[in-house]
Amino acid sequence: MTEPIAGWVWEYEGYDPANERLRESLCTLGNGYFATRGAAPECPADDVHYPGTYAAGCYNRLTSHVAGRHVENEDMVNLPDWLPLRYRLKNQDESGEWLTPDSATLVALHQSLDVQSGVLERNLRYETGQGRTLAVRQLRVVHMADPHLALLRTEFTLEGPPAVLEVEAALDGTVTNAGVTRYRQLNSRHLTHVHTGDGDGRNIVWLRCRTTTSDVRVGMAARTTAGSARPATRHDTGRAAQRFDLDLEPGRTVTVDKTVALHTSRDPAISDPLQAAVDRAGRAPGFDELLDSHLTAWDQLWRRAELDVPGEAGRILRLHHFHVLQTLSPHTADLDVGVPARGLHGEAYRGHVFWDELFVLPYLNLHFPEVSRALLGYRHRRLEAACRAARGAGRAGAMFPWQSGSDGREETQQLHLNPRSGRWLPDNSRLQHHVGSAVAYNVWRYCEASGDSEFLHTKGAEMLLQIARFWADSATYDESLGRHRIRGVVGPDEYHDAYPDASEPGLDDNAYTNVTAAWTLTRALEVLRDVPEPRRRELVERIGLDGGELELWEDVSRTLYVPFHDGVVSQFEGYGELAELDWDGYRARYGDIRRLDRILEAENDTVNRYQASKQADVLMLGYLFSPAELRSFFDRLGYSLDADTWRRTVDHYLRRTSHGSTLSGLVHGWGLARVRRAGAWKFVQEALEGDIADLQGGTTGEGIHLGAMAGTLDLVQRGLTGLEARGGAIWLDPVPLPELSEYGFTLRYQGHWGVRLRMRPGSLHIAVPASDRSPIDIELPGRAVSVMPGESCELSLPE
Ligand code: BGC
Repeated sequence: MTEPIAGWVWEYEGYDPANERLRESLCTLGNGYFATRGAAPECPADDVHYPGTYAAGCYNRLTSHVAGRHVENEDMVNLPDWLPLRYRLKNQDESGEWLTPDSATLVALHQSLDVQSGVLERNLRYETGQGRTLAVRQLRVVHMADPHLALLRTEFTLEGPPAVLEVEAALDGTVTNAGVTRYRQLNSRHLTHVHTGDGDGRNIVWLRCRTTTSDVRVGMAARTTAGSARPATRHDTGRAAQRFDLDLEPGRTVTVDKTVALHTSRDPAISDPLQAAVDRAGRAPGFDELLDSHLTAWDQLWRRAELDVPGEAGRILRLHHFHVLQTLSPHTADLDVGVPARGLHGEAYRGHVFWDELFVLPYLNLHFPEVSRALLGYRHRRLEAACRAARGAGRAGAMFPWQSGSDGREETQQLHLNPRSGRWLPDNSRLQHHVGSAVAYNVWRYCEASGDSEFLHTKGAEMLLQIARFWADSATYDESLGRHRIRGVVGPDEYHDAYPDASEPGLDDNAYTNVTAAWTLTRALEVLRDVPEPRRRELVERIGLDGGELELWEDVSRTLYVPFHDGVVSQFEGYGELAELDWDGYRARYGDIRRLDRILEAENDTVNRYQASKQADVLMLGYLFSPAELRSFFDRLGYSLDADTWRRTVDHYLRRTSHGSTLSGLVHGWGLARVRRAGAWKFVQEALEGDIADLQGGTTGEGIHLGAMAGTLDLVQRGLTGLEARGGAIWLDPVPLPELSEYGFTLRYQGHWGVRLRMRPGSLHIAVPASDRSPIDIELPGRAVSVMPGESCELSLPE
């Protein structure tokens, strides 16, 4: 292995049980097909350790009885644990205890995650008495070239008198989904029919099982070798183990290699998952060869996603990059999966797919467009389910679910637990129909960046049109306002799900929902105009569109109502009449008030009564649209959104947001930077530190926040450069932050690979690779240039 490069390695010194879950999440290894938390292979799951392995898109549905009700939840399944590898000294003078980080004999533990190579290294040292020291070095890989493989190499070196070391490597199918304390009252046993066996003298043990209701069959096989030592195989219920007795001589390193293969019945090109896993584990080459191909795969990924940001921000961004690529890699392009909000890193939010893809796809579009296309394909395959859901709600078009899982039905839980009060409460977040606009927005931006008109004119158009149809049908005309309204929804700010004292959930005219609905309608009409014949006719026939409907869309797109109060855009109609919260008082009393909703509910109050937001809602508009685009869009709706009104709006919500979502810091940092306001960096930093410092108080241990991680990458890529790919050109309008004024990145834009951009104080450098076939047109405010293949240009920027 090459030497790790500074700034790419995350080091963890010592063993800290209180932070072990966080470390496990941040040290998760994955390849887009599956991921495994960075847990200690010596330890089974308990209150400190939580080994979790998740295959993208592998869900199972269970019914539980809570608060006097039967509730059904679909979860991303914790698959059998492939990690277990424990060891102990067998001499009579030893205690015979398995050695783990919790052992009293542990004297040192150092762990390092090299995000360049995707290798997790652990070094442990035990002083076991009688003058013996056992050093353990362990390398772990979830293979980036062969997505069905994982490797664990463990090297043991003894100092002191010779000893016999017993090593046990196992596959454990007795696991449950137990990674989130809040879900503990729910049924969590997703695996059944667990069988184990061994593979005819090839040092292989295997395990097969299936999920209880989705009937996904899982096959796992492990080949463990320790020089020429022969293992003894042992099968306990749900667990297959291989044990070795190894003679340790002082100063001589003994190596144990465990090579694991995983298949599920969702995989293409296999006969049955167990046979595929056993074959793969048996056929796999040795550790060194596998490590080589793994490093090459990572090297290729980094070449497609170069990002050179100096200092600590750069170090964190590399970690974010790493986790985004481990969740959504080119392997994802072959799968039927969406963007799991918490990565493949833990069980929070049950591996569900929310609107968070809005923060992920715009980044991927400019590096891995094939992955974006596949993720949009996940939505398209569930368009029919979304149309069914709309019909069920008495509407036309497509109503995408707030939380999506296997088949595209609404997966939002019916009840959620407030851990502060211990009460189970109705979860109304399913009224966040704005998720449909996020799908539409992603279709549009993906097609702009990739130039994939084939997708835009077929599946993309179908989604845009059906989402637009849903919005037009959801809008009702209000005579007194002379405008259309969308009532009974919830906006991005999840604190507000009803009017105070209302008997039904839902709010009217959430500004974000209405503006993005108007945007979707406008884009849908535009696409329909642009689709060439005979595709257009096919589309119209398939969807059953008529002229009257299109006239309505045009009308609604121009007349949706946007409420204002006190000279600012209102989050929803009536927001301005809500009470003001005593922010200082609550901060003084509780310190961290990010989950103000839980605090108030536990006080028998409700956050619905207050002008207090969990996260950016109106201000999301400044994230999705440039100031000029937003202004012209408001003009189209017949409102004036001048710079002063937007500034007042930003100030209003800045003072009234608790940032109870990691997305909030990102959106505020982005939005403030775009209008060149001071204070942006504080929010950017919050977005950067969200997971590494676990700012949401313990939630990162349950899974990373993928939207915020990808969003920070996009912040330097599009946010601070103002980069837009539209009309056949790249538009730039840089707003460098003093704290982040010099950095570079490459991007893939339509047919161009490896276009290089570098921001410097006062200038912008653009280089087009010589291998490209055509020039790139660049548009800056007041200037346009064309950069030829093999050439570069330096553009000066206004101060
Ligand atoms: C946020 C949502 C987000 C979800 C999943 C929630 O806390 O409020 O906006 O979609 O987390 O990340």
